[in-house]
Amino acid sequence: MDSLPINQGRFLDLFAGGSSISFEAKNRGFEVITNDALYSSFVVNKALIENKSVKLSEKEILKFNSITVDSERRASFSWLENNLFYTTEVDELVKLIVLSENMRGYKKYLLQALIRRAMIRKLPYSRMNIDWKNILKLRDENYSYEKYGRRRAYHNDSFINHILRDLPDYNAAIFDNNCKNKVYQLDALDAIKKTGKVDIIYLDPPYPSTMNNYDGFYGKFDKIFGKKIEYTDITHEKDFLYYFDQLIDLASQYSDYLVVSLNTSGKIIFENLVDKFSFYGLVEIKEKKHNYQISGKESKNKNKELLAIVKFYK
Ligand SMILES: C[S@@+](CC[C@H](N)C(=O)[O-])C[C@H]1O[C@@H](n2cnc3c(N)ncnc32)[C@H](O)[C@@H]1O
Repeated sequence: MDSLPINQGRFLDLFAGGSSISFEAKNRGFEVITNDALYSSFVVNKALIENKSVKLSEKEILKFNSITVDSERRASFSWLENNLFYTTEVDELVKLIVLSENMRGYKKYLLQALIRRAMIRKLPYSRMNIDWKNILKLRDENYSYEKYGRRRAYHNDSFINHILRDLPDYNAAIFDNNCKNKVYQLDALDAIKKTGKVDIIYLDPPYPSTMNNYDGFYGKFDKIFGKKIEYTDITHEKDFLYYFDQLIDLASQYSDYLVVSLNTSGKIIFENLVDKFSFYGLVEIKEKKHNYQISGKESKNKNKELLAIVKFYK
């Protein structure tokens, strides 16, 4: 964030994911517009970026205990059983889902963000695309201890315990930066048009040949809430470059600056992008050493993290 060319104005985070950059931009007083194609990111962004003051209490969440779910509704979630969670866990999860849907405005998004977090904590590798056989193996605390030296008991804790434990942190992260921040769940190109004129567009896209299967990682959450949208899959090299052409061209019409997190593992992509940027504006590349943390072990993959700052020609 310290590398940004300006320190106030409208900041569009186009591939926001878990909203760490948007959150910091909000903290620094930017008017933040946050976008991601996934509903699983949208709920976090609604709860923490757009929301200025609405919090949730334990009491409101504990009402899930008295929720009754009719059998047809419950059956619509049976695909989760012995796929992501045990049947009794799905019973608990569905009550929480129904409670969240009965809530209004930011309370709904806060509870859904907490549900998302609890689901992820309960899943090995924090992802929704691990097959059930492996989930069973990795949730076996003795196996985990023998093989990895950690029991990972949190995979076997209840949804409500996770949610109540995380609640104070989520509530504490809600604040008003005196700006009207806005959140979208759109394909990135649509989000640029929808947002209109901004000062900075920030991009941290899913680069080809990286861990980029975000739909696989979190898409089942979107399915649960019936909120999957159509968007362009740019995880393959050819599609990525084609899409980026349109993205940069559009960005140059709507923004003064483009700031891009660059991944250096794909050489062709990297050189291609820098070439494209210089066609549209003055480019500055900043470098910072970045060590990938994988599974809590020492860095396995030393990768350079670069930031391209493009000042568009006007
Ligand atoms: C590398 S992650 C962003 C990480 C983020 N900067 C953070 O700090 O958590 C890329 C994000 O782009 C989203 N995405 C992928 N394709 C998209 C598209 N066509 N339009 C909008 N978002 C997309 C994914 O859902 C994913 O959350």
